[in-house]
Amino acid sequence: MRIGVIGGGLMGSGIAEVCARSGVDVTVVEMDRARAEKSRAAIEKSLDRGVRSGKVSDEDRDAALDRLAYSSALEDLAGADAAIEAIVEDERAKRELFRRLDELLPDADFLASNTSSVPIMKLGAETSQPQRVIGMHFFNPVPVLPLVEIVHSIMTGEETATRVREFAEGTLGKQCIDSQDRAGFVVNALLVPYLLSAVRMYESGFASREDIDRGMVLGCAHPMGPLKLADLIGLDTLLAVSESLYEEFRDPGSVAPPLLNRMVEAGLVGRKSGRGFYEYAK
Ligand code: NAI
Repeated sequence: MRIGVIGGGLMGSGIAEVCARSGVDVTVVEMDRARAEKSRAAIEKSLDRGVRSGKVSDEDRDAALDRLAYSSALEDLAGADAAIEAIVEDERAKRELFRRLDELLPDADFLASNTSSVPIMKLGAETSQPQRVIGMHFFNPVPVLPLVEIVHSIMTGEETATRVREFAEGTLGKQCIDSQDRAGFVVNALLVPYLLSAVRMYESGFASREDIDRGMVLGCAHPMGPLKLADLIGLDTLLAVSESLYEEFRDPGSVAPPLLNRMVEAGLVGRKSGRGFYEYAK
């Protein structure tokens, strides 16, 4: 099987790594060669980390590396069996991309999006075969977290959903839940209002960032506190999801606090930029 992963950032690199480790040939398409190289470096680093921790053998790492190709030209995906889109969370860019994927891959089994907030229906509507457009919502870090939310638009075909579940569970070894095509899907609809509450609590001076995080780790056995988790997800992604939740449900708990807006405007988007609520060594 050969799959195209479009967007080789935080999520795309993780998805590509998991596919390659599962025996799938992968082509990662990025905006330019420099970013494609960055994705290659991130995947190699992650695989090396897997080897050092004993989770990946040397042979498996080398085999995975052999299955990975990188490109800055979407045309290089011609003939792929399926595509998973993980580009920046920008509705216009995603719609344009699905239009092009539809033309380029008329026989692909499925065109999936890893979007956190763009309705799958809007992406399907750009294509001539909306029945094969579906959401595959992975979680960060993709090689570690087992969940994939399968998001069914009102046009997604049953056959497509079955194939995607077989691929995610049978090939990639993930575990799936089904969600309707509603803002936030299942997990973010529950998680994001909680993270926004933590940002509001910190912003108001109610408690320090460390105490907010320690409170939830020590008191609720969460593996990570909400501000650290927000940094890990990316504050730009958190903002985009909160906006889509508010647009859909008009729940005041989904309104982004001013601090979150200012941090995103300043480029302090969390771990991937080196600074969010905490600072990270590059
Ligand atoms: P990111 O900013 O790390 O990566 C996005 C990548 O897409 C960048 O490397 C950029 O160069 C590339 N890109 C942009 N336009 C492109 C195009 N037209 N063709 C090819 N590449 C292009 O963002 P991240 O966090 O990886 O998010 C990607 C998607 O995954 C978003 O839709 C986001 O909502 C979703 N997502 C993010 C999660 C997270 O925890 N960060 C979790 C689940 C989904």
